[in-house]
Order: sequence, then structure tokens, then C-alpha cells
Amino acid sequence: KESLMKAVKDYIRTIPDFPHEGIMFRDVTTLFGDPRGLRLAVDQMLHPYAGRRIDKVVGLEARGFILGGAIAHQLGLGFVPVRKKGKLPAATIGERYTLEYGEAEVEIHDDAIQPGESVLLVDDLLATGGTAEAGIKLIERLGGQIASCAFLVDLPELGGRKKLEGMGMEVFTLCEFE
Ligand code: PRP
Ligand code: HPA
Repeated sequence: KESLMKAVKDYIRTIPDFPHEGIMFRDVTTLFGDPRGLRLAVDQMLHPYAGRRIDKVVGLEARGFILGGAIAHQLGLGFVPVRKKGKLPAATIGERYTLEYGEAEVEIHDDAIQPGESVLLVDDLLATGGTAEAGIKLIERLGGQIASCAFLVDLPELGGRKKLEGMGMEVFTLCEFE
């Protein structure tokens, strides 16, 4: 029997050949823009964390801010942004990571996590895992412990989940695209 309720995956739009020819871009703005889609995604992403000790939510720029902010609010926690280099105003630490073409760097305020705090890392999509790995390193350098990593979308062919699980991380994702 077909469910009458749409699944998270049904709210995500695919744009062929963005940002390069041959890439099928999974566009989560259609999910964010739908009141049922956004609530379904946020509720399902925070479901594993009911009753667990988590001190803070860290979100990865830019789409991780939307989900991470909503999850932090719903769990009654504070939110900490990991941003692209040069955006955060106070003292920061940075981590470089590899992109499809070239390198990038993300930063966190050096007083945003206290040693021993338990952190939930949130982003919209897990591809190679390079961005998440950089975020994990920043949190760990500040003495934080990663309780779990939550993503809306997994692209398993790109190996991000394997990379993070190989680092000993717990990873939760809501849907997959090939
Ligand atoms: C996308 C996505 C993740 C990252 C995943 O962000 O939102 O943060 O790439 O890729 P990875 O697992 O291979 O690192 P993007 O770098 O496009 O930044 P944006 O959200 O600021 O547009
Ligand atoms: N969608 C959104 N962000 C991404 C994708 C995608 O398909 N691949 C790598 N980052």
C-alpha cells in the first residue's frame, strides 16, 4: 500500500548539470520551502537524540545553518556555526579541506565549544565527507566530543559515510541518492 504522506526524499529536487555538466545536483531548497517538508526533515533528524546528553549543535555553512538552527531550537540547545574562512568576527581556529577542485578552509570561534562538551554536528548533505571531517577536527581541537553527525541526504557513492564511520563517528542520514 502506497503511503499518502510524502517522504523526505520526495521534497528534494534534482537539477541536472549543476554546477558542472554531468552532476545531478540534489536541491534541498524545495524541502526547506515546504512547511511539511521542513518539519518532517527536522523531526526525523532529531528523533535519534531524544533522551541523549547533547550540549550543543554545530551547523556547517550554509545549508547546515537552516537544519542545525531548527534542531538546536527543538532540542533546547545553543547553536554554533562553522563558517567559510574570513566570515567569523572573533578569534578563530581553521581547518583546510579538499574540494572537487582545489582547497577551502572553514573556521569556528575558538571559545564556541568548552572542553568536554558533547556536540551534534549537522549539515544538509554528505558527499565526500571532507567538509564534515574539517568540522569534526575543529570541534575536537577545542576539546569537544562528537556525539553524532546528522545529515538530510547521503550520496553513498562519494564515500563520506565510510570516511566518517572510519573515524569512529556515529552517522545518521534520512535518505540516499545514487
Ligand atoms: C555542500 C553541502 C555540504 C558539502 C558536502 O556545501 O552543503 O556542506 O558541500 O560535500 P562534501 O561531503 O564533499 O564535503 P558547499 O560546499 O556547496 O557550501 P554551501 O552550503 O555554503 O553552498
Ligand atoms: N547537492 C547539494 N550539495 C552538494 C551536492 C549535491 O548534489 N553534491 C555536493 N554537494
